Amino acid sequence: MPHSAPGSAANAAWGRSKLHRRPKGPAGSPRPQAAPARQEYFPHFDLCPGSKDIRHHGQKVVKALDSALKHLDNLHDTLADLSDLHAYNLRVDPVNFKLLAKCFHVTLASQLRAEYNPLVYLAWDKFFHQVACCLSEKYR
Ligand code: HEM
Repeated sequence: MPHSAPGSAANAAWGRSKLHRRPKGPAGSPRPQAAPARQEYFPHFDLCPGSKDIRHHGQKVVKALDSALKHLDNLHDTLADLSDLHAYNLRVDPVNFKLLAKCFHVTLASQLRAEYNPLVYLAWDKFFHQVACCLSEKYR
């Protein structure tokens, strides 16, 4: 499949999702805090659903993904600083990027409903895979 087809589908779906339009509400945000890794990586956060810490952090992550979607042809440079942060400073186990991608899939599907068709799913899956590759490439 051409690179632009999944990119266009993901960008269109992102525009219609509530993820970047309602960053302040817990209902519209993915909940990576449900993953077992939450205590390991976020011991300093208030991890109650919808807490200020989670909402602020969610806004940062969504903003980074928004930027990545706008720079699909240059993801490597776009995510370089975050790649350094997650590998060298935070030492995030790369398996968690896949778990977070699943959280986003569930959130997008619940928001987009029938619009979250196989092509849109494929586009997001490819996008999250590329983001995960960029964020974990420093481990090699
Ligand atoms: C799509 C994948 C991800 C993206 C785009 C992303 C993005 C970000 C961003 C933008 C920040 C804030 C950086 C700053 O303040 O300068 C951040 C911080 C952080 N990320 Fe990620 N992240 C991702 C996945 C993960 C995963 C899977 C984990 C661990 C399970 C993780 C753990 C953390 C931690 C612990 C922080 C620092 C939080 C703090 O103390 O404020 N990230 N991430």
